[in-house]
Parts: sequence; C-alpha cells; structure tokens
Amino acid sequence: MLRQRVQAKVLVAMFIVTTFVAAPLASLAQKVSPVAPARAQVEAVVKEAYDKFKNDPGGKNADYIPYLAQVDSKLFGIAIVTTDNQELSMGDIKYAFSIQSISKVFSQALAMEELGPDKVLDKVGNEPTGRAFNSVFAVADMPTHTGNPYVNAGAISTVSLISAKTADEKWNKILDFYSRVAGEKLTLIDEVYKSEAATNTGNKALSMLLAKYDRIYADPFESVDVYTKQCSVGVNVVQLARMGATLANNGKNPKTGEQVIKPENVPHILSTMIMAGLYDGSGGWAWHVGLPAKSGVGGGIVAIVPGKGAIAVFAPPLDEAGNSVKAQKVIQYVANRLDFNLFSPRSVGLKATE
Ligand code: DON
Repeated sequence: MLRQRVQAKVLVAMFIVTTFVAAPLASLAQKVSPVAPARAQVEAVVKEAYDKFKNDPGGKNADYIPYLAQVDSKLFGIAIVTTDNQELSMGDIKYAFSIQSISKVFSQALAMEELGPDKVLDKVGNEPTGRAFNSVFAVADMPTHTGNPYVNAGAISTVSLISAKTADEKWNKILDFYSRVAGEKLTLIDEVYKSEAATNTGNKALSMLLAKYDRIYADPFESVDVYTKQCSVGVNVVQLARMGATLANNGKNPKTGEQVIKPENVPHILSTMIMAGLYDGSGGWAWHVGLPAKSGVGGGIVAIVPGKGAIAVFAPPLDEAGNSVKAQKVIQYVANRLDFNLFSPRSVGLKATE
C-alpha cells in the first residue's frame, strides 16, 4: 500500500517536471543564445537609430580619390551580425562600397598569422601618431617611423611584411584571407582601384620615406600597389559586419565556422582598433562609445562587441578626421542603448545604481 502511494507520488512529480519545467527550458535553449543580445530589442534600437540619423546632413564625401566624390552621399545601411550568426540589417545593404582603411585591420591580422604578433609589433609598432592618417610628418618624427598598422605608412609597411614570391601572389593571398573573414567571396572594385592608383602620389612618397628609414620590407612601389588594391576591395554592410563578427567570435567566422584568425591574436587587433581605429577621432570615440572600431574613407565603420557580435554602418559623408559622420552617430546610439561600452560595468550586466 505504502509502495503504491510512493509510486503514484513519483509519477505525479515526473508529470510536473516534464510538463512545467523541462518543456519551457528546452524551448528557451532553442531560442536564446548564451552570448547574442535579444533580437527584438536590438531590432527596435537599430530601427530607432536608422530613423533618427537617416537625414543627418553632416559631413562630406572624400574627394582626394576621385571615384569616392561621386558616390551617392545619401546611401545609408546598417548591419549587425552576432557570434551565433544571426543577421539583422536595414537600408542600403546590397551596395558594395570600397573597404578602404578598414582593410588595414585584416592585413594586420594576416601578417600576425604569418609572423606572430611580436614580430609585427617590432616591425611596424603600435603607437598613436597624433597626426592625420596620411601624414608625412608622423613618418619623419616618430621613433618607429611606421607608427601603427592603421595609418597609411604603417599599413603599407604591414603589407610589405606579408610573404609572397610576386606582388600578384600577395594580392591574391590578401583577397582570399579577407573573403574567408567575410565568409563570402569578395572582389576588387576596379574603378576604385584605377581612380586611387592614378592619384596616390602621397602614398608613394610615404613608401620612399619608409625605405629611407628601413621600415619597409619589400619593394616600396609594389607594396603601395598591393595596398591600393586591398583598399579597393568591395564589401556590402552585411559582409563588413560579418568580418567584425569574426573578430568578436575569437577569430572564428560565425557563418562558415572556420577559425580564420588565431584567437591569441584577436586582443592585439582589438587594442589597435581602440587606440587608432578612428585616427585623430579615436580618443573621443573611446570616451563616448568604448568599442574597438575601424573606419574607412569609403564611408564604412565596423565596431566590435567582443563575444557578442559586430555592427557595421555605411554612409559616405565624412568628418575632418576621415570618419563617416552618420556611422559614428548610429553606432554610438546603439552602443549606448544596448550597454555595449566595454569600459562600463553595465556591459557585463551591473546596473547603473549598483
Ligand atoms: O590610402 C588611402 O588614403 C586610402 N586608400 C585609405 C584611407 C582611409 O580609408 C582612411 N580612413 N579613414
């Protein structure tokens, strides 16, 4: 009798557990990622940012590369890719713009894959220049001459470090690496390349100065040419966000699952992004936004939220430092609303009042 009562109680308990506890937990496990922010909330905030800044009149297209001057300055796209490969995008998301200086992040990554971070630090350096991205004075004044991998001089030097028998082989290696980071095949925008190659006397001068200081490690003009090609790679805003998400995901592409960048190199890359990703705007950016990010004169900016994902914005008009005005505003708005600022204890869940 007692045994029957115990058996009945066990059956009732099992029924309660399977019906009211296990089933909701199972569905929760399917729907909620342990790392990605809640989708509906992110969608709402991105939509708010899109509407708020769509008609912002600030900035002007880059015009020192003639092609960029005639790109429609009203183009505007936003994309987020999370480390668990959720995508969310809005606006002009199919338009392929030139990656420009954002490429420097991924050539830095490739050089570190090949040589290791210490060698790249030694050969190129990692200090802010306090000057414009194309400054000749920085090359002459700085003890390292190269500054860091994100100013033009340091970027050309970084390209010269990547091993290859010919310039063509180096270029194909770079394009293949970028494509693996993006999780899709990327291509050169030939018109951008031709436009920049016809006007890049300043970068050629930088390469000659680097040669004078023994801070370029392959043929200077060949290095400038490969660098000009890497800046002319076309990306849409979703591809750019996925490139950022690969960094956010410890170097593993969230779409393809390929470990493209060694995990131990990622913190070095993100530290350079915080220090120099927006050139002379980097200090203000760290103050207001607190996320590693990189801009390009094509109008793109990508910001990394480690462990969670990346946000990329494309809008051509730039500020004086060469950073997209709308992209900065959108990312700042989204990062503040979603508590992404890495320097804020709220980014790991502490409340403002604690
Ligand atoms: O070498 C240049 O000037 C361009 N290809 C890249 C500069 C750039 O994107 C600076 N970014 N804000």
